[in-house]
Order: sequence, then C-alpha cells, then structure tokens
Amino acid sequence: MKKRVLSGIRATGRLHLGNYLGAVKGMLALQDNPSYETFYMVADVHTLTTPYNIEELRKNRREVMVDYLAAGLDPQKSVLFQQSEVNAHIELAFYFSSVTTIAKMQHLPTFKDKVKQYPEHATMALLNYPILMAADILIYKAGLVPVGIDQEPHLEVTREIARRMNQEYGTDFPEPKRFATKGEYIPSLTGEGKMSKSVEGSYINLTDDLETIRKKVRSVPTATEAGGEKSSGLQALFSFLQVVAPTQVQHFEQSFQQGTLQFVELKDTIAEAIYAELKPLQEKRKELEANPAYVDQVIAQGAQKACEVAALTVKEVRGKMGLL
Ligand code: TYM
Repeated sequence: MKKRVLSGIRATGRLHLGNYLGAVKGMLALQDNPSYETFYMVADVHTLTTPYNIEELRKNRREVMVDYLAAGLDPQKSVLFQQSEVNAHIELAFYFSSVTTIAKMQHLPTFKDKVKQYPEHATMALLNYPILMAADILIYKAGLVPVGIDQEPHLEVTREIARRMNQEYGTDFPEPKRFATKGEYIPSLTGEGKMSKSVEGSYINLTDDLETIRKKVRSVPTATEAGGEKSSGLQALFSFLQVVAPTQVQHFEQSFQQGTLQFVELKDTIAEAIYAELKPLQEKRKELEANPAYVDQVIAQGAQKACEVAALTVKEVRGKMGLL
C-alpha cells in the first residue's frame, strides 16, 4: 500500500517564497516519489476563518491552483483539488469537534495570534480551524504532511484527534507527521519573524521579476551590532543563502568573520539565486494563463477523485459513531 500524503495552502493570494520553499518543494518531492499517493488542495474553506473579500477569494483560489501547476504539481501524479468541492471535509470536521475541547483550541498559539490580529473576528470558524485541518488530512488517512514548521501545532492537534477517534470509536486513523524541507522556516525580509502574506514588505512573490526581487532583498536591514554579532536582518540573509545558494555560505561566512563582507554582494547573490529558482515557474505560469480550459479540467477531475476517497472515510466514521 502506498503511503498517503496531503497538504494545502489557503487561498489568501498568490503564493510567496515561504509557501514555495516551506511547503510546495516538499509537495513536489513526495509527488515524484512512487512510494506515495499525494493529495494537494487549495484550502479555500479555511480562507473563511479570517475577514476576506468574496471576489478575491474566487480569484485567489484559482491563482493558487495555477501556482501549484506552474511549480510542477502534476495532475497525472497528484490529486489536485479545491477543498470546498469535497463537502465531506466539513462533515468530518464536525464529527471531530465532538472529541475536541474548547480549552485546547483556545490555547493554540495560532488561534491567539489571529485573535490579536483580528480582535473583531474571534469566530467559531477560527476556533475550528485546526479541526477542519485535521479532517483535511485524516479524511485521506494521510500519514505525511509537507508543511512549514509553523504548522506543527496544528499537526499535534491532528494526531490527538486521530488518537481520540481510534480509542473511542475504533477507527484506524494514522498519526500524521510533518515532512520538512530545507526551507521549513523562511524569514521575513524585515528581519523580524517569518515571511508572511499578512505582513507587508515581508515577502517575495513567486511572480516577482529579478529587479523587484533585487530591490526587496536589498531592503533587508543589515546594521551590524558591536562585537561582531549578526543582526537579525543579517541572520535572515544567511538563512536565505543556506536555502537558495548553499555553496556560497562558506565564502560569505568567511568574509563576515574577516570583516570584509559586502552586504550588496551578499544580497545580490541571494536575489539572483531566488530568481533562477523562480524563472521556470514564471514561464510555465504564462503558458497556463493562456490555457484556462486546462486549469478548469484539472480542478474538475481532482474534485471527483478526492470525493471518491473522502466519501469512504466519512461513511466508515458515520458507521462507527452510530449514525448508520
Ligand atoms: P498557509 O496558507 O498559512 O501556508 C501555506 C504553507 O506555507 C508554509 N509557510 C511557510 N514555510 C516556511 N517559511 C515561511 N515563512 C512560511 N510561510 C508559510 C506553511 O507552513 C504552510 O505549509 N493551515 C495551513 C493550510 C491547510 C493545510 C491543511 C495544510 C489547511 N488544511 C491540511 C496541510 C494540511 C496554512 O496555514 O496554510
């Protein structure tokens, strides 16, 4: 039996470099490994957990699918679908909510952060976010989830739900593990925290051209503190280098130690390496934009396959919970 994999990205806009290096790269590696059966979705229902614009959601969920295809996710190898087209995720999430306490959900750091960010929108949907994510994963009985390190608390919840369901109802859900990439934590261009769609000036889009990327990377603050410590901006630059141009790390570390490091040289090396990685995706994206019928077809086919698998799990759970 092939091991199942599931991952998803919210439809809050086009993908950024953090999404690509932290999640999509792992999704690609597993898709191309014949030991795995891969399910990758656009998490459009999760987008409803924070304030959003209806027209933008419609547009963005397609943009994420196009980004997936441009990055090399392949409908011949992976089931590519939109979460909202598989109603069973929402049904299973409700069943899972019966084995999850409110206290546990309220204490999650991801919940607290979002409440701080949107104090007027501390909704039940937001509280249920991790339960829906557990349903996304467990409905396919996926044991491996390629996501960035920030998603670890959600995976812990998923494992707990799997254990609870197995104990109380005799289901056979796996306890999923995170599949990590080198880029599991991509720092923000501001030098503080991680690259994030919700922080202006923190990210590089997959569609940015070389000039834009160069400008953005040059904007990373690089003041060096007394005593030769690396500032947080410089640490961020070295993290980028480690992921996109690992062969250059030694050279720049050496010049940092010797006090001869040229920030512009370091920044431009990083910018060029990022662009070299993104250029083929941008070319593929242009082809896809010219062929909307193909994208429609991928979305329709993916929904059908995902629904077939999801229906089996939900039927099993209904039966075990006394609803059949
Ligand atoms: P989202 O949209 O916030 O993030 C999508 C993916 O990108 C990764 N990521 C990063 N990785 C490294 N460095 C960064 N700076 C960075 N920023 C974002 C995230 O870790 C994530 O892998 N809850 C998920 C969406 C989801 C999901 C699922 C994922 C819904 N259901 C089921 C896996 C399985 C999320 O917040 O995505």
